[in-house]
Amino acid sequence: MGLVRREGRVMLMAAMVTIAAAVGCWTPAGGAEAKAGAAKGKANERIGAAVCLQCHSQFEKGWYGLRHNRYRTSESAPEMLQGCEGCHGPGQAHLEDENFGKIFSPKKATGLKAVAMCFQCHETTMKAASWLQTPHAKAGLGCGTCHEMHMDTKQPALLRDKTTTLCLSCHREEEAAFRLNSHHPVLEGRMGCTDCHDPHVGAGKRALLKVNDDKCLRCHLEKRGPFAYEHQTALHAGEASCASCHKPHGSPNPRLGTYYGRGMCLQCHSEIAGDARHRPRVGNCWVAGCHSRFHGSNANRFFLN
Ligand code: HEC
Ligand code: HEC
Ligand code: HEC
Ligand code: HEC
Ligand code: HEC
Ligand code: HEC
Ligand code: HEC
Ligand code: HEC
Ligand code: HEC
Repeated sequence: MGLVRREGRVMLMAAMVTIAAAVGCWTPAGGAEAKAGAAKGKANERIGAAVCLQCHSQFEKGWYGLRHNRYRTSESAPEMLQGCEGCHGPGQAHLEDENFGKIFSPKKATGLKAVAMCFQCHETTMKAASWLQTPHAKAGLGCGTCHEMHMDTKQPALLRDKTTTLCLSCHREEEAAFRLNSHHPVLEGRMGCTDCHDPHVGAGKRALLKVNDDKCLRCHLEKRGPFAYEHQTALHAGEASCASCHKPHGSPNPRLGTYYGRGMCLQCHSEIAGDARHRPRVGNCWVAGCHSRFHGSNANRFFLN
């Protein structure tokens, strides 16, 4: 049996080389011809990566060099995880099927089924249950949507494209914000979407966000305090915090402002809206030189300069 199958593979290979050279890629019509030479086997038998690659030759160049595959291409790996079939399952039925179906396609699968093969190994650092809660999983994205498992893309983390380009390919509407007057320098390449977002974790209000204000303070340390006089609710009560005064991506107002000028302060201090003393002739609450330490002060409880 083993011998017969091996002969089948050789014949297949010969047919493949001709066809690949002629049309550059595999067609189901050609497959039927080549498969006539393929031996019959049990549906759940493995055929080995070399056979898969005869037809799916677009992956051949990258497959053996891919760092991700060092483990699965080694003879010492458990058979279950080896080769293409470590992710796609046994291939004999696929080989024998007229329509080249009967193989696990992660792209067509949904829910846990679509990603379970990754968690065979990655469950130590990522939890399947947590992934399934994210808006990305709920929208039907699979791991393979962003990660290329077959070829080297020259990007870190096997990504299909540069992170920012990849994110913006779906989140086009966010790009506009990064072109507003005041914006985080993401399109300039000085920071990336993943400085603030984790595409794999978080649900609800925290969806795909790295923890709370820590993500802002990580880079803007001087705003962390502690200050002798904290601007308590505005800065450190968790709920509102930086977001009460700043847009995260970009804003038409200076300094990523949620509002223009003193409108930012009046959100909470509406009691001074009609107070003549609180209407500076020039500038606003801070530009006029008064409450310029509003992020917190060590000198003055009114955050005066
Ligand atoms: C004899 C040629 C041949 C061999 C050998 C072969 N395939 Fe395929 N495979 C095809 C063709 C043809 C298609 C259909 C391509 C298409 O529709 O674009 C296909 C489709 C697929 C698909 C997509 C299925 C779907 O439902 O969308 C996967 C995944 C796949 N093959 C994986 C494998 C793996 C893994 C192996 C080795 C275990 C393998 N193939 C061996 C010819 C082959
Ligand atoms: C680490 C897991 C993994 C391994 C190993 C793997 N694949 Fe895949 N493969 C995937 C995932 C995930 C997708 C779905 C990609 C997507 O969502 O676009 C996929 C998709 C495919 C497709 C369908 C492409 C399409 O556009 O529908 C084919 C064909 C395929 N793989 C063949 C192979 C072959 C041949 C090998 C071995 C040389 C292999 N795969 C090894 C995970 C893997
Ligand atoms: C057989 C075990 C195994 C399976 C299954 C597996 N991986 Fe991995 N993966 C690894 C190992 C081991 C590493 C570390 C490789 C290294 O750094 O050399 C890794 C690393 C990675 C990395 C980081 C690569 C880098 O360069 O930083 C990504 C992304 C990744 N895997 C995605 C996936 C996805 C998506 C799937 C499912 C389609 C998957 N893996 C399935 C074993 C596996
Ligand atoms: C929406 C795109 C996207 C999807 C979907 C996605 N990833 Fe990632 N993944 C990324 C990005 C971007 C990075 C790089 C993170 C960084 O730069 O900090 C990454 C990094 C990784 C890493 C490298 C280790 C790490 O955390 O830094 C692993 C492993 C990984 N992803 C596995 C997976 C698995 C498994 C799935 C499916 C359950 C998946 N990814 C789905 C975008 C995605
Ligand atoms: C293949 C398309 C696709 C890619 C690539 C993609 N996303 Fe998403 N993303 C979605 C979909 C679909 C949703 C859920 C529907 C929605 O809210 O737009 C979503 C939701 C989100 C959300 C949550 C929105 C909310 O309402 O809470 C964030 C944040 C996000 N993505 C960030 C990223 C980042 C960062 C990247 C790059 C690492 C990325 N996405 C890559 C399609 C994508
Ligand atoms: C400086 C940190 C930061 C950077 C960089 C960043 N984001 Fe965000 N993003 C956030 C925060 C914070 C939120 C939550 C806003 C809220 O809840 O109102 C958010 C929300 C989102 C949302 C949901 C939008 C909505 O209206 O609910 C999407 C989608 C998103 N970001 C995508 C991206 C993409 C794509 C990139 C890169 C091009 C990116 N983000 C870069 C901090 C950032
Ligand atoms: C990865 C680092 C990083 C993170 C995280 C980060 N920022 Fe920034 N932030 C920057 C950089 C870089 C600039 C541009 C500084 C410059 O141009 O000199 C900037 C600029 C700003 C500015 C001034 C914009 C302007 O027009 O001058 C504000 C306000 C700001 N960030 C608020 C925030 C808030 C709020 C968060 C959390 C949602 C945050 N930042 C998270 C790196 C970061
Ligand atoms: C009460 C409103 C308010 C809150 C809350 C707030 N900011 Fe600001 N922030 C401002 C205003 C107003 C400016 C513009 C100052 C100016 O015009 O120079 C500013 C400017 C900035 C700047 C750019 C100028 C500078 O001083 O470096 C950064 C960075 C910044 N804020 C980060 C943060 C971070 C991080 C948080 C959360 C810990 C935060 N801010 C919370 C109102 C606020
Ligand atoms: C998200 C709500 C919020 C925003 C926005 C806000 N503040 Fe406050 N502010 C507070 C709270 C709450 C206190 C504490 C009130 C108290 O202790 O009685 C406070 C206290 C103050 C105080 C001290 C008043 C006192 O009587 O002790 C000053 C001055 C002040 N804020 C100025 C500003 C300025 C200037 C801005 C705009 C840059 C601003 N605040 C924006 C919520 C806010």
